[in-house]
Amino acid sequence: MSQTPFPIQPGAAPKTGDGLRAGPDHVAIIMDGNGRWAQARGLPRAMGHREGVEALRRAVEACGDLGLGELTVFSFSTENWKRPPQEVETLFDLLRMFVRSDLQRLHRQNVRIRIPGEREGLAGDILELIEEAVDLTAGNSGLTLNIAFNYGGRAELVDGARKLALAVREGRIRPEDIDEAMLGSTLWTAGSRAPDLILRTSGELRLSNFLLWSGAYAELMFLEVNWPDFEHRHLAQAIEAYRRRDRRFGGVGA
Ligand code: IPE
Ligand code: IPE
Ligand code: MG
Repeated sequence: MSQTPFPIQPGAAPKTGDGLRAGPDHVAIIMDGNGRWAQARGLPRAMGHREGVEALRRAVEACGDLGLGELTVFSFSTENWKRPPQEVETLFDLLRMFVRSDLQRLHRQNVRIRIPGEREGLAGDILELIEEAVDLTAGNSGLTLNIAFNYGGRAELVDGARKLALAVREGRIRPEDIDEAMLGSTLWTAGSRAPDLILRTSGELRLSNFLLWSGAYAELMFLEVNWPDFEHRHLAQAIEAYRRRDRRFGGVGA
């Protein structure tokens, strides 16, 4: 892919003044529909996943262009191990390829990469690539790109519960010290703000175990487009629609 000339910086989100809310700062995307995209063209599912990586590159560029501070993408779920081993291997190969081919460019663009998910069960070389990407970009101050990989919302909460149970057993905390902030700080997504908007492509109407904790009050949008066909305009339209939403958080609203 060609190099973009601009660093991807947050903070240029549309401001209010037109009666609409400010644009979302953190958008999360369930990148779904790769298989159907390929099937519709008589291609193997792997081709859909490959095109999905191109769509991810476009989405990252679009986030920079539209002034978002944070993008979280769901790239492999803890449930995706149920797929045929060959497809799982394709998805792992694509993560390897993405990190190897895009890491330096993303670093130059000031993008901070984080990879929330379960590490257990991942191959050694994948673990090394994850560490390299996260360490290299940790000090960057532009767009934060969270690639949720081997991620599941339930597994994330179970892992957090174990950490807290251990802390109680070792006498570092008391059960009554546990509050939302403390539990939140044990999660793989700790350090991220809650997503303002969760988008899912491919027309499916479910969360499939994505961001169960931090997405509690996210606005949800479901797009008919399959992920490999996702373009800048889809994100721009979703942001426009978000700005018209009335977020109440249990209160009575504006
Ligand atoms: C999303 O596309 C990619 C992953 C879940 C890893 P799918 O592979 O789920 O595509 P469909 O839903 O079968 O079309
Ligand atoms: C969710 O998509 C997981 C990712 C996009 C990585 P799936 O395609 O796995 O979800 P289900 O099985 O349709 O719920
Ligand atoms: Mg799917």
